[in-house]
Amino acid sequence: MEPVNVAIIYYSSTGTVHTLAEAAAEAAEKAGADVRLRKVTETAPPRSVAARPEWARHLEETADIAEAGHHDLEWADAVLFGTPTRFGNPASQVRAFIDTTGPLWFQGKLADKVYSAFTASNTAHGGQESTLLALANTFYHWGGIIVPPGYTDPVQFQSGNPYGTSHVAGDGPPGEPSLQAARYQARRVVDTAAQLKAGRAA
Ligand SMILES: Cc1cc2nc3c(=O)[nH]c(=O)nc-3n(C[C@H](O)[C@H](O)[C@H](O)COP(=O)(O)O)c2cc1C
Repeated sequence: MEPVNVAIIYYSSTGTVHTLAEAAAEAAEKAGADVRLRKVTETAPPRSVAARPEWARHLEETADIAEAGHHDLEWADAVLFGTPTRFGNPASQVRAFIDTTGPLWFQGKLADKVYSAFTASNTAHGGQESTLLALANTFYHWGGIIVPPGYTDPVQFQSGNPYGTSHVAGDGPPGEPSLQAARYQARRVVDTAAQLKAGRAA
């Protein structure tokens, strides 16, 4: 069977979600998928970016990562979205990308794919679940197959978020178990998408 196509589409201002996205991409590749790691376009005004040196630095360091496009969504059997929590919601950069997908949705091209999401926030109760659930609203509209990690692996009892990998950035950059959770979530997405793909081909 052809490998599963996985698009990992994320936004990150200061690198936390980027690190989770890279861990997910590596794990998906190891699980046998063809992977596209894609960042969404930065929409913040340059003066806002320049005002935070770590934001400007991260933007520069990730300049070589391709930007997500509609062709990536069309290509994918499964899409993992990554976003920082912004006031309990996905980042506007991710929403801006999602809000361009009307024509794909209208043609039914976003339906029947596997979707899953991960996030980071500064504080443990800073809105990680609400961010992931807000993204899932869109997956419902798209007719997606939502694959959350739940408590289906021992790492989930350490990382503790059944909705999707969630790192507390206020504690420092992602280490274990956040990276393990991201890897596990990616593997689960690949496995589920592979089973669906095989079933549809049969
Ligand atoms: C405008 C804005 C809103 C934010 N809202 C929240 C929030 O509601 N809860 C929280 O814990 N952290 C919040 N944060 C902190 C970010 O979630 C945190 O910096 C981010 O997860 C780091 O991810 P990144 O390094 O990938 O950009 C906010 C940050 C910004 C800039």
